[in-house]
Amino acid sequence: MKVTVVGAGNVGATCANVIAHKELCNEVVLLDIKEGTAEGKALDIWQTSPINLYDTRVKGCTNDYAATAGSDVVVITSGLPRKPGMSRDDLIATNAGIVRSVTENIMKYSPNAIIIVVSNPLDVMTYCAFLTAGVDSSKVFGMAGILDTARYRAFLAEALDTSPKDIQAVLMGGHGDTMVPLPRYTTVAGIPVTELIAADKLEAIVDRTKKGGGELVNLMGTSAWYAPGAAAAQMVEAILRDQKRIFPCCAWLQGEYGLKDIYLGVPVKLGKNGIEEIIELQLNADEKDLLSKSAIAVKEVMDVLDNMQTAAK
Ligand code: NAI
Ligand code: 2OP
Repeated sequence: MKVTVVGAGNVGATCANVIAHKELCNEVVLLDIKEGTAEGKALDIWQTSPINLYDTRVKGCTNDYAATAGSDVVVITSGLPRKPGMSRDDLIATNAGIVRSVTENIMKYSPNAIIIVVSNPLDVMTYCAFLTAGVDSSKVFGMAGILDTARYRAFLAEALDTSPKDIQAVLMGGHGDTMVPLPRYTTVAGIPVTELIAADKLEAIVDRTKKGGGELVNLMGTSAWYAPGAAAAQMVEAILRDQKRIFPCCAWLQGEYGLKDIYLGVPVKLGKNGIEEIIELQLNADEKDLLSKSAIAVKEVMDVLDNMQTAAK
């Protein structure tokens, strides 16, 4: 098995490191456009193999797509990260150009690869990769929901003073302030979270989750990477090990949840074929309303991309 991670920046290098550490495949190729960056980081990661005890080969290259040939899974993290005061949507024009050219190159050398998009604005960059790749949507999807639910679960674990391992949650919608954490589908070792925490505290955690990415940007001057890299690697693991795990992922909807022709975060089953099922929850009226507001926000940015592409023709 072979995995390529495009973009050897904070998220890409972290993702490659987790993939190697967990020995998810025989080979990880890290590719970046910046001369020497991917080679250096790959070498550094590979030099942890005698310490962390794994055999996965980690190789780096500068824009050499031939080295990525025959990849089973490709994670796209190339693009600019968000800076303080910058919204994810500000990134659209630059990152769409990058994601488009990366996807074209990937398809040339790994036409059967499953593509996981991480670059922001996430839902729209996933759409951009899907349009460019021209393959079934089960093979092109985005990472955001695992990260956003991880933040939500970590906040809850802290507030309840329990193990994060016991907290299960579902979160839907776009990767932005309109995301929809679902307290009704949040449990602590099977116990509904609403029985364990006061409503106002839960609401504050939901609110903090929605702004979770921005909180880190404000602290660090750039966006997060440990949790995003680990989240993307968890998706790679579910695919390569055919785990049939259920995660919130950014998926192409064709009527599910009453939404059509849109990439949005929903619970899916991930296995060797990519997205093997989109799971439709019975949302109540309030939840449906929040999801539809999130879909409108995502669709607006998808339209920006569509208009940019039409103008370029
Ligand atoms: P970074 O700046 O550390 O790394 C980005 C890398 O992409 C750089 O090394 C750059 O040289 C490379 N790159 C740029 N153009 C390229 C091209 N054409 N081909 C190959 N490589 C290219 O940024 P970071 O922090 O790793 O973030 C990467 C992306 O992931 C950003 O768009 C960020 O907003 C997004 N992100 C998404 C998250 C999510 O939940 N979906 C979470 C965190 C970050
Ligand atoms: C995050 O949520 C900014 O998308 C990035 O950390």
